[in-house]
Amino acid sequence: MSEHIKIEKSDGILSLTMARPDKKNALTNAMYGALADAMEAAETDPTVRVLLIRGEGDMFTAGNDVGEFAAIATGAFQGERHVGRFLQALAKSSRPLVAVVQGRAVGIGTTMLLHCDLVVLAENALLSTPFVNLALVPEAASSLLMPLRIGYARAYEMFALGDAVDAKSALAWGLANRVVPLDKLDAEAKALASRLAKQPAGAVSTTKRLMRNPELLLAQIKTESERFAERLTTAEAREAFVAFAERRPPDFLKLAKQPA
Ligand code: COA
Repeated sequence: MSEHIKIEKSDGILSLTMARPDKKNALTNAMYGALADAMEAAETDPTVRVLLIRGEGDMFTAGNDVGEFAAIATGAFQGERHVGRFLQALAKSSRPLVAVVQGRAVGIGTTMLLHCDLVVLAENALLSTPFVNLALVPEAASSLLMPLRIGYARAYEMFALGDAVDAKSALAWGLANRVVPLDKLDAEAKALASRLAKQPAGAVSTTKRLMRNPELLLAQIKTESERFAERLTTAEAREAFVAFAERRPPDFLKLAKQPA
């Protein structure tokens, strides 16, 4: 369990809230574990009809904790990693997933939206996938899902340059269902989740199963995870993590002049 994931259930809706606002809800291993546990338990809980995923504070999430990336890269991180279980739970969830996004959704904050069935954005939402900026590669089956959803040209630019996409563009590109003023965000998302919760659960889950192919997604996640793990230990990635810790831009060009 993690103190940074809040879990509440009411009227058939299980709310999972990333609650580490002082670190912009950056996701730690413990947070992935708590999210995965809750999602796995929801699969066998008939009283859970819809899952709502949200973040506390001024942004949805700044993505994976970069300090933990660095610790994995140097071997300082030991123990069981839970991110894989979380990604699998996302890909396999039979329940509708509703995302509620204000401010930034970075990295996995954006790629998890591709697994959500309804995405409600606040007007200030900014979606970005700066994996390459960190010398990493896309995850969560996003290398498959993103080009399918928004086309190769836009997906490649999002991944390779890491620029943020604003709410209006995200809606136009099919990354979201609604854009609403920030002060209406929670109410709008809850209203949609409540409507879904009252629909016939069997038909809802079978429709989702027809529209999504978990086996294909899990295979892509496996391939990406292997590449991701390789990239984490490169000199490029070390430079990216050190630069983040030192609050400076990374200098990848200098690596060409050094032995690997
Ligand atoms: N991992 C670890 N800590 C993070 C983090 C992350 N992904 N994102 C933010 N934080 C921490 C900051 O280090 C800072 O901690 P401090 O107060 O102890 O110094 C705190 O959260 C606030 O972040 P700050 O950068 O001051 O907020 P901001 O509003 O100026 O910028 C972001 C927000 C999200 C633009 C910026 O924090 C950022 O770029 N984070 C990294 C995002 C990223 O690369 N994620 C991985 C994607 S694969």
